Amino acid sequence: MGGLPPIQLPVSAASMDDLILIARHLCKSYDGRMVVDGITFEVKRGECFGMLGPNGAGKSTTLRMIIGMTERDSGDLHLFGLDMDPEQVAVKARMGVVFQEDNLDDDLTVEENILVYASYFGMSRGRARERVGELLEFAQLTERRRDTVRKLSGGMKRRLVLARALVAQPELVVLDEPTTGLDPQARHVIWQRIRSLRENGVTILLTSHYMEEAQRLCDRILVLDGGKILDLDTPAALVERYVEPEVVEVRSATAEPLEPERFAPLPARLEEVDGTLHCYTRNASEVMALLCEHPGIALVRRPANLEDVFLQLTGRELRD
Ligand SMILES: Nc1ncnc2c1ncn2[C@@H]1O[C@H](COP(=O)(O)OP(=O)(O)OP(=O)(O)O)[C@@H](O)[C@H]1O
Ligand SMILES: [Mg+2]
Repeated sequence: MGGLPPIQLPVSAASMDDLILIARHLCKSYDGRMVVDGITFEVKRGECFGMLGPNGAGKSTTLRMIIGMTERDSGDLHLFGLDMDPEQVAVKARMGVVFQEDNLDDDLTVEENILVYASYFGMSRGRARERVGELLEFAQLTERRRDTVRKLSGGMKRRLVLARALVAQPELVVLDEPTTGLDPQARHVIWQRIRSLRENGVTILLTSHYMEEAQRLCDRILVLDGGKILDLDTPAALVERYVEPEVVEVRSATAEPLEPERFAPLPARLEEVDGTLHCYTRNASEVMALLCEHPGIALVRRPANLEDVFLQLTGRELRD
């Protein structure tokens, strides 16, 4: 049962036992438009794997195909060494899912939301009650257990959705934008929880629009745009591949707009982003020294990061 057909693609050197997910040539179209366009990738057991991409890139559609909520047009999916097609029920039982939109029952209490969810997994009432206690501790919601969900803040709801996804102790947790709309404190709590899951051997597959989040949490990142994979690697390797190691940001310290020509020549690649001049460089000290001679500007020197990579790879125009 669940034997894998031979792999035709030399997708990676990792052994099959190390791979929790294999997706090959996944395709999905809506109204004749390809929104996921033949993507192939693997997720290793125990890693935190991130998917980044602009609005409409196809991230949620890909996740929905993986969790069996959206039917794919073509392509193969293997999870836990099982073929998703005949084994969908067995596969789903081993995954925990946090959707992009919260889908809690507002009229039920915090603990009822988890108990109802536990019943879908066929858990006994006693075992489910035990799990509720553990999960509410994990999500720091023990004091709120008898409150209805409508009384919770956005951060609490997100923690509850995460706790609920863990009820059946999944091996793989799929999170679609786990921290969108949360304040920095709430975001840090979720990050800390995701890290502790990973430290306990749980595999994480997440999407995000926050580059800092992806950089902090993810072992590897897949960049998707227009339903196609632009690249897939560790955050450090992506930064090294696409951008110079350091950035000097130049802002006007007066009411005068910046005129980049006035700084030339600089040993840097210059890009203007919202009125700030970004100087991507391998020689930040020299760039700083040259720029310091100009009056009326403020300088910030920083290492290049995933946001620079993202903008370089996906461009700056607004998406739908
Ligand atoms: N059920 C659907 N019917 C028709 N079009 C859809 C449907 N679901 C998604 N799409 C379209 O498919 C494309 C990809 O959507 P998807 O939700 O996967 O993107 P995303 O990368 O998750 O974007 P976001 O960052 O905004 O969440 C979009 O153009 C979207 O409008
Ligand atoms: Mg989405």
